[in-house]
Amino acid sequence: MFADRVLSGMRPTGNLHLGHYHGVLKNWVEMQHQYECLFFVADWHALTTHYDTPQVIEQNVWDMVIDWLAAGVDPSQATLFIQSRVPEHAELHLLLSMITPLGWLERMPTYKDQQEKLSGKDLSTYGFLGYPLLQSADILIYRATQVPVGEDQVPHVEFTREIARRFNHIYGKEVGFEEKAEAAIKKLGGKKAKLYTELRTRFQEQGDVEALESAKSLLDEQQSLSLGDRERLFGYLEGGGKMILSEPQAMLTAASRMPGLDGQKMSKSYGNTISLREDEAEVGKKIKTMPTDPARIRRTDPGDPAKCPVWQLHLVYSNDATREWVQQGCKSAGIGCIECKQPVIAGVLEEQKPMRERAQQYLDDPSLVRNIIADGCEKARKLATETMRDVRDAMGLGYS
Ligand code: TRP
Ligand code: SF4
Repeated sequence: MFADRVLSGMRPTGNLHLGHYHGVLKNWVEMQHQYECLFFVADWHALTTHYDTPQVIEQNVWDMVIDWLAAGVDPSQATLFIQSRVPEHAELHLLLSMITPLGWLERMPTYKDQQEKLSGKDLSTYGFLGYPLLQSADILIYRATQVPVGEDQVPHVEFTREIARRFNHIYGKEVGFEEKAEAAIKKLGGKKAKLYTELRTRFQEQGDVEALESAKSLLDEQQSLSLGDRERLFGYLEGGGKMILSEPQAMLTAASRMPGLDGQKMSKSYGNTISLREDEAEVGKKIKTMPTDPARIRRTDPGDPAKCPVWQLHLVYSNDATREWVQQGCKSAGIGCIECKQPVIAGVLEEQKPMRERAQQYLDDPSLVRNIIADGCEKARKLATETMRDVRDAMGLGYS
């Protein structure tokens, strides 16, 4: 019912590394030019698992925003904010909790998985059970249409769609809905009214999804419809009643698997990371001490790049000519491992250079970051307030 709006959040639970850059941030930077984008620090989500180490959160919030900016997220293109500074998220979470079946939360695959994974921590809390619902509130409060997430988060977006549907089903009914919807069709004008009705019939009688999409874009183009009529006509397409909350789509980011220093996926829990703005000397040290093909004990032993984690990084950072040089040199023992690692070190440093430069101004003047976030929170709050007005009205809280 609204133009594309992208929303995504990240938990401030640790230093961002190059895995985050290749897996998430590069994608955000690209999307900010194509869509309206909202990116936020999910500090309440971090508390669901880190409730006993608040200092971790405090430390990481601002560092994480600096990492985003360093990676090229541009506050003049995207809105950046902090979840807890838009308290409407909590209000929507509470209101949605009224209609959320406990079983839906208990059956979330992430619930048991995470409890097992973080077995050192007691996660049989109310807050942790509600994690996916808080995420739904994050998404629905902005009527986001696209949610870029990793594979593990897809069930949460699916769950959000079900919550939106349930909400619309319960609260979208209004007295005389059909009559009002028919009256709204008339307001589209002869030709468009006829087209809308045809497309709706095709969808409802034949399940024609393309017809549904066409009808939706037809509505998207109608500038003069009131918000109420717009919601009715969207709702009327699929049956039901008014569509108060809109269903988001998960946007699966092409899983670029960034290899870590040991050849496994780069991840904090494997201790194989290079941070986004890692000290230059440290980058060199980490790569120089990377394990290589274990068969190359002596410099004169030939090796096989397929068995070497350094090769994985050449696949990310090196061009064809360099890769060819590695293949030849490694298999013939023509080059040593230290030599082989040099172009990788250079590649990482070059990638990080603009990030370090961008970060520097924010490190020099932290008030810049505070201001960016203050602006973002204000924008986000405006949008959130609009949705909350509709939600409160729908739930019988609109009295004055
Ligand atoms: N749960 C997400 C993660 O762990 C973070 C998150 C919180 C989020 N709220 C969100 C992501 C809303 C997308 C949309 O990665
Ligand atoms: Fe790995 Fe390169 Fe050494 Fe071969 S030469 S084992 S690819 S580091």
